[in-house]
Amino acid sequence: MTERTFSILKPDATERNLTGAINAVIEKAGLRIVAQKRIKMSRTDAEQFYGVHKERPFFGELVETMTSAPVVVQVLEGEGAIAKYREIMGATNPAQAADGTIRKLYAKSIGENSVHGSDAPETAKVEIAQFFPDAEIVG
Ligand code: CMP
Repeated sequence: MTERTFSILKPDATERNLTGAINAVIEKAGLRIVAQKRIKMSRTDAEQFYGVHKERPFFGELVETMTSAPVVVQVLEGEGAIAKYREIMGATNPAQAADGTIRKLYAKSIGENSVHGSDAPETAKVEIAQFFPDAEIVG
């Protein structure tokens, strides 16, 4: 089934000029980048986006990290895009990520893990809507 997922290339990736390298992995996996923009996430954006983690001990650090430098937000489209992107991202903790995955290749730590991808269809819908009006998604 063709579906869409939401992706963020995080500050640790943009700071190291890895946008193109990560996009190459995404496209090679057969996912299509149907929307993309580079933004500086506001504190309000980050707090809303990661609201589900509000009570976690790393929440403050997560918001600081995500607002520390530009990010690239994206919508990816393809067959089983949500699961496929999670597969090519690799485990949240790069120490546990499989060879060849984006996090194994590029992530610095669990907090600076280069990319985010939606975990389910409902989350993908909410996450995409936070950053992209329908008119900015061109499939
Ligand atoms: P992400 O997929 O963007 O979703 C939530 C993020 O929280 C996660 O990637 C990590 O970057 C971050 N995170 C998860 N666990 C920890 C942790 N123990 N310490 C710091 N950051 C974490």
